[in-house]
Amino acid sequence: MKSLLCLSLIVTLGFAKISRAPYFYNQSRPLVIAHRGSSGSYPEHSIGAYTAAYIYGADYVELDLQITKDGHIVTNHDPCLKDTTNVEDYEFMFGHRQQNYTFMPYTNHYKNDYLIHDFTLAELKMLRRKMRYANRNQYLNGQFQIMTLEETIELLLELNQNQPRGDISMPVGLYVETKMYNFYLDNFGQDLSQMLFDTLKKYGIETIDKSASKLPMIIECFEPEALIKFGQISDLPLVQLMFWQNDYVNYNFTLISEYAHAVGPQQEWLFLYDNSTAWNTTNESKFIEMCHDLGLAVHPYPLKDDFLVWSNPPNPIEEHKIFVNKKIDGIFTEFPHMTHSVFNDYKSQNQFPESFISIQHKNNEQYFLRNDI
Ligand SMILES: *[C@@H]1O[C@H](CO)[C@@H](O)[C@H](O)[C@H]1NC(C)=O
Ligand SMILES: *[C@@H]1O[C@H](CO)[C@@H](O)[C@H](O)[C@H]1NC(C)=O
Ligand SMILES: *[C@@H]1O[C@H](CO)[C@@H](O)[C@H](O)[C@H]1NC(C)=O
Ligand SMILES: *[C@@H]1O[C@H](CO)[C@@H](O)[C@H](O)[C@H]1NC(C)=O
Ligand SMILES: *[C@@H]1O[C@H](CO)[C@@H](O)[C@H](O)[C@H]1NC(C)=O
Ligand SMILES: *[C@@H]1O[C@H](CO)[C@@H](O)[C@H](O)[C@H]1NC(C)=O
Repeated sequence: MKSLLCLSLIVTLGFAKISRAPYFYNQSRPLVIAHRGSSGSYPEHSIGAYTAAYIYGADYVELDLQITKDGHIVTNHDPCLKDTTNVEDYEFMFGHRQQNYTFMPYTNHYKNDYLIHDFTLAELKMLRRKMRYANRNQYLNGQFQIMTLEETIELLLELNQNQPRGDISMPVGLYVETKMYNFYLDNFGQDLSQMLFDTLKKYGIETIDKSASKLPMIIECFEPEALIKFGQISDLPLVQLMFWQNDYVNYNFTLISEYAHAVGPQQEWLFLYDNSTAWNTTNESKFIEMCHDLGLAVHPYPLKDDFLVWSNPPNPIEEHKIFVNKKIDGIFTEFPHMTHSVFNDYKSQNQFPESFISIQHKNNEQYFLRNDI
């Protein structure tokens, strides 16, 4: 009986690389991944956003990396500065650096904007962060600086050590995107995957075993090259991010399952991939089923309580439940305090679907199977 089960798993999973990181799956509820920190309430990528995410219930603080002119790694979603800092106040100093930018495969267009890589860290530290969206609280604009990757790691190490959360058995982790990987590599010869690895190594958190007890690490990127490179130097879990772009983007999921441990799809994938259940928020997601069959966990992005897409009438609690019922393994959220509390209420009322997170059950079996061999 057992050998039959093993055989069928081998066949089903093929080359799937299920992560052995103990922190990559939570069997009792989906992971809470704070998108750019608590970015719904604080300027994104600020010490305020990161600290609030930590305190109010994230399992992971999510952030993006960029490289400065003098080779420091800083945290920012965009390679440009206008959307989230007051760089325009310094026009008299930096105005001549303005240009129009588009960076494939990313679709953002930056108009008359400033490139982070044109600035030294000292110059960037003069700037102050602001909220990205006008409909969110603006009163913390001007309060926070741009942070380096090192400062962010030190913040989380210190919080985990001195103010342990207590409600979860793992330390809170970092979920890090090696943004613009090919841009930095092709134009400046800077390999962000290698640079990230070297920084993690400095803090003794560059592998699963070393990071698990101090600062769990997950690596994400839209560009496969960055993940494949990281997978050659470390065993940390890897997440392939996926655009939707108004329609299917042609991804080879079998191929993804050979180098990554999860996908981070734009949320439309969960609802529109399966044409027959399009917009049906009750049905489970065929997309998730397909990913789980390949051994890939699914962490969709992003859930915004002030920009709800699926619940009707719009209601943040209902919106969360829709995602849970589709059996996500984790979710990027800009209001992690809400996500944390909805998931905990759901858990205490035993409302998670019976076969919640089937990948996690497979994970146990696969893990067992590997030990067996
Ligand atoms: C950027 O594009 C706009 C038109 O969309 C143009 O007016 C502007 O001059 C361009 N800026 C630069 C620096 O080329
Ligand atoms: C999973 O979530 C539960 C409920 O919040 C928590 O008690 C547990 O510590 C978490 N497990 C891990 C591995 O974080
Ligand atoms: C997808 O990837 C798999 C595994 O590498 C490969 O065997 C297959 O030919 C690819 N499919 C397409 C359509 O390229
Ligand atoms: C949905 O329709 C698209 C476009 O016709 C097709 O490419 C895709 O395979 C369909 N999806 C499924 C899950 O059948
Ligand atoms: C929901 O899923 C069920 C079972 O797969 C299917 O029979 C039904 O057609 C789906 N409903 C819609 C509205 O697509
Ligand atoms: C969605 O699918 C579920 C399960 O098949 C079904 O009960 C429900 O009526 C469907 N909802 C809509 C709006 O089609």
